[in-house]
Amino acid sequence: MNEKSNPKILGIVGSPRRGGNTETIVDEVLAGEKEAGADTDKIILNELDIAPCQGCNSCAGKGKCQFDDDMDIINEKISESSVLVFGTPVYFWGPTGQFKVFTDRLLAASRQGIIKNKKIILVIPLGGSEPIARHTIGMLTDTINYLNAEVFAKVISPNTMEVEDLIQKKEVLAKARQYGKDVVKA
Ligand SMILES: Cc1cc2nc3c(=O)[nH]c(=O)nc-3n(C[C@H](O)[C@H](O)[C@H](O)COP(=O)(O)O)c2cc1C
Repeated sequence: MNEKSNPKILGIVGSPRRGGNTETIVDEVLAGEKEAGADTDKIILNELDIAPCQGCNSCAGKGKCQFDDDMDIINEKISESSVLVFGTPVYFWGPTGQFKVFTDRLLAASRQGIIKNKKIILVIPLGGSEPIARHTIGMLTDTINYLNAEVFAKVISPNTMEVEDLIQKKEVLAKARQYGKDVVKA
């Protein structure tokens, strides 16, 4: 008998703050996905060894990066997953350095065809008002489109400097959980 396996979903957290706003919202999306029957996993970029892209273009041939580092682990997890949750806070109008290094290194992954057609949920908390997130949202949306993947939903949490601020925002957490459920059923 051919049993259907649960969809696999990978959360990728670009904040260095463990238990911070990004991780808390990503966890909420993952909880919704789990509730809807998915198997979830989570990666904290700050705890991994990921070298910045050197622009050597060696991935243009075989699609393999010149570096053998923890990006190999991420790529393997990405290839097994149908949905990704990309979380980064806004740091000076953009994603964190950790998240930018990760997205640059996705060039090799895209050339290996492993990120194509993935559904991606964006999670972006920030201390200031929503328009401040526009560059981060734009950069990540354009990057995801370039990688031939799809932005399924966005959870933007403005005016969220500290975790205490997020706890007040029940609607943000509820939306995160709902998108998690929706993406599994989509
Ligand atoms: C270095 C640094 C730069 C930041 N830059 C901005 C910014 O440009 N705009 C903004 O609204 N918030 C900014 N913030 C606030 C964070 O986006 C906010 O605290 C966010 O919720 C942190 O998420 P985390 O708890 O997951 O780390 C910055 C925080 C740090 C540490």
